Amino acid sequence: MLNLNQQFDLIRQSATVAMADRILALKAGGRNIIGLQVGDPDFETHPAVIETALKAMQDGQTHYGPSVGTMELRRAIAAKLQRDEGAAYDPASEILVTHGGIHAYYTAMQSILNPGDDVLIPDPSWATHANMAVMLRGNAIRVPAPAESGFIPQFESWLKAWTPKTKAIVLNYPSNPTGAFPSREYLTKLHEFAKERGMWIVSDEVYGSLFYEEKPVSAAAVENAKERTLLVNSLSKSYAMTGWRVGFLAAPPRVIQNALKAGQNSITCVAPFIQKAAAFALTDPQIQRFTADMRAAYSRRRQLVLRLSLELESDKVKVTPPQGAFYFFLDMRALNMPSVEICERILEQEGVGLVPGSAFGAQGEGFVRMVISASDEDVEAGFRKIVKWAERQ
Ligand SMILES: Cc1ncc(COP(=O)(O)O)c(C=O)c1O
Repeated sequence: MLNLNQQFDLIRQSATVAMADRILALKAGGRNIIGLQVGDPDFETHPAVIETALKAMQDGQTHYGPSVGTMELRRAIAAKLQRDEGAAYDPASEILVTHGGIHAYYTAMQSILNPGDDVLIPDPSWATHANMAVMLRGNAIRVPAPAESGFIPQFESWLKAWTPKTKAIVLNYPSNPTGAFPSREYLTKLHEFAKERGMWIVSDEVYGSLFYEEKPVSAAAVENAKERTLLVNSLSKSYAMTGWRVGFLAAPPRVIQNALKAGQNSITCVAPFIQKAAAFALTDPQIQRFTADMRAAYSRRRQLVLRLSLELESDKVKVTPPQGAFYFFLDMRALNMPSVEICERILEQEGVGLVPGSAFGAQGEGFVRMVISASDEDVEAGFRKIVKWAERQ
């Protein structure tokens, strides 16, 4: 048999994908499923953004564009980073337009990792964070971020995980799946640690504009952080543009130079008409109001779940209020059941789609991830069914 890249043997097929396949099969069989598993806004992209892309296509922006991204979009990104995060980036040298946040993360990691490098990644965390490090022949070292410490690693855990091979720390705040984010003081201390030990910080901030009571601080906005920070972001979640596949990497110029080579030799460029629409979305005031309206809807649903959890008073389904993003990471450890089994049984018996917490790392075992990027009715009905099912066990 012909040989394959053995690195992929180290990556498990995502439990999220397996659940999604099962849900599709049940739906095809006529079952009515309340889908609370997909991390995709339930809002349509704003019509003015769509108009902008259509017009750009009609105007002939249907050919190759600059690999680094159009200057118009890079300027819009720099303006957004200044406006929303208070971080100053030079659009000429410190920004690369990418094919969504996932590609920004890919090019970031490609730019800095050598085979055998260790990467510190909190557990739980979105599976791609660790999988990408492994794909690039690095070692994903998981740093426990248990519920008991608010889903943020205790500082000693970083110290314990560090080895001379450690090249980078990966952060994702607000977090998928927990919605947690740390304080400015914590980030400052982490940056000092990274500086002292010679590490990069890759910060995935795709949920940065989805927050509730308090606004998260960007890892790039901490004092002297920029020189070691690779900022990953996209328009997917904040502007309801997941299918447009547009995001960006903001990083020191020499990192951008590497990332640009990675982009040039893999995707050439992001479609120019998409970039036109993205620049419009990032700068037009009505689109910023649209983003704020979406945040208000998520906030309303978050309150709804918190109210229901008080009303239903379940010991089997414990709820921690997320600080950001659009997920609840429900603590069902009292059931003493693997989270894959919990999700399978809730899907079969109650018709509610969820993602098992173990898909995000060992610390997620016993938890399930439920989205609130679904209608208020689905969120309420789904949560009630989850609790009803749990109480029967
Ligand atoms: C933490 C995190 N980062 C990145 C992404 C990917 O974002 P994009 O659609 O912009 O590629 C996701 C998508 O679910 C995510 O949860």
